[in-house]
Amino acid sequence: MNPKIEQLRQLKRQARMGGGEDKLAARKAKGKLNARERIELLLDKGSFREVDSLVVHRETNFEMDKKKIPGDSVVTGWGTIDGRLVYVFSQDFTVFGGSLSGVHAEKICKIMDMAVRNGAPVIGINDSGGARIQEGVVSLAGYADVFLRNTLASGVIPQISVIMGPCAGGAVYSPALTDFIFMVKNSSHMFITGPDVVKAVTGEDVTFEELGGAMAHNAVSGVAHMAAESEEDCLFLIREMMSYIPSNNMEDAPFKVSGDDSLRTDERLNDIVPDSPNKPYDIRDVIQLIVDDGRFYEIQEHYAQNIVVGFARLGGFSIGIVANQPMVLAGVLDINASEKAARFVRFCDCFNIPLVVFEDVPGFLPGLDQEHGGIIRHGAKLLYAFCEATVPKLTVITRKAYGGAYCVMNSKHIRSDFNVAWPTAEIAVMGPEGAVNIIYRRDIAEAEQPESRRAELTAEYRDHLANPYIAAQYGYIDDVIEPSETRPRLINALNMLQNKRDQNPPKKHGNIPL
Ligand code: HXC
Repeated sequence: MNPKIEQLRQLKRQARMGGGEDKLAARKAKGKLNARERIELLLDKGSFREVDSLVVHRETNFEMDKKKIPGDSVVTGWGTIDGRLVYVFSQDFTVFGGSLSGVHAEKICKIMDMAVRNGAPVIGINDSGGARIQEGVVSLAGYADVFLRNTLASGVIPQISVIMGPCAGGAVYSPALTDFIFMVKNSSHMFITGPDVVKAVTGEDVTFEELGGAMAHNAVSGVAHMAAESEEDCLFLIREMMSYIPSNNMEDAPFKVSGDDSLRTDERLNDIVPDSPNKPYDIRDVIQLIVDDGRFYEIQEHYAQNIVVGFARLGGFSIGIVANQPMVLAGVLDINASEKAARFVRFCDCFNIPLVVFEDVPGFLPGLDQEHGGIIRHGAKLLYAFCEATVPKLTVITRKAYGGAYCVMNSKHIRSDFNVAWPTAEIAVMGPEGAVNIIYRRDIAEAEQPESRRAELTAEYRDHLANPYIAAQYGYIDDVIEPSETRPRLINALNMLQNKRDQNPPKKHGNIPL
């Protein structure tokens, strides 16, 4: 064997072994996949091409010059998902705890630059002890280099972060700048400061999981978007998400023909909204009966459950769905729901994914908490997001569309393209009970039987104002349709809007109320 070839093979073998056999075995014993196995499961079989596997760190202090490992603590390169190009990095915990050295950051930056230049998504698998302590400010500089790229790539290529171990301190800000964060239950953590520091500063006793585990960030903080049961499940979910989103902001989302008939109607929809306006129903049932093959890829399903967002397909077109959920808080808009939906709307608009809104909203949530928490500012985010979006925009009003929330939820007035209502829709300034109490207060007080007078006036109000026909008379909705025909009508509209062209006035950027 040519000794030069033998030397190359040895180097490559060494790189593949990361921190060594013992450390790889220790990971396995903990039930964790290693950095390369994760990439293998994420990408199409055999498609991964690694770069920079011979890079080594440059630190000489702390005897670090004796501890150089080819590839250092991150595996980078590209491959395909369903045949489509993606760039990946996967932090290798077996090498200095996956900590970020100067060259580790350079490797990530290199593939991010390539991803932007070639218009393909970046998927980053995070499993790291944070800044490489031995490298000090060089490591901090490396983080900043990555943050800048995350920001510049935002809205140009999709960026997905996967947390499969620790992600602590300032290191959390790279995932936080990306479009979606996936976490794994009971094995991934994100926090600014760990339980020990929390204890020292605030006296609170918390576990890793309570402070920054998958459910803490999926259900409470809203930082993460998906909580997977296992690492394998997580990687599968990412592959599935990729099928709904384009590779960059210049492309349309992938079109996928399904066996589901575009003209299919569904009589069950005609009875799905209960007779009583205060009775809940699950908006996800509505969505499932309408979209291709009943498949709905829900995002942030554990957070702000009074609004439902996610991807689906209609007639093969990828769509982003935003739907009020009458089952939770009657589908009211509050601070968390507004932020959750606004961010999703902006993602879809960045990446040319048409928006379909299902509306059943009694208004914004009243109360001291909400007002002092800034519902005005946060609600404005959702309004801003819908107003600025130029993708095809469609709205179906299933029941309530009251007050400011009527305007916000993709109304005709803010450039929605296709707005329809079901006959069960109630479109008005406020619900009948509230309205009657205000405009007929004296009338009711002076009545012989105030309660029956109130009921009579409420019924009258409902007949006159809480229906879809006044809005239809003004052209504020394009039609009142039978619920059963919602699917064919939406698909027809998506086809009609295929070549939609709309744009906002030229500007550096807007000033969304953050
Ligand atoms: C260098 C590190 C390291 C780090 C871990 N290691 N973190 N080396 N820099 N930041 C090394 C350990 O020395 C050890 O090496 C190996 O990785 C595995 O670590 P263990 O502690 O044995 O593993 P475990 O018990 O699983 O604990 C994992 C851990 C812990 C919770 C991540 O290592 C830890 O707390 N690390 C420090 C975390 C931290 O405070 N980082 C800085 C955050 S601030 P050997 O050779 O023994 O195997 C930050 C600022 C970023 O990141 C700012 C950006 C703006």
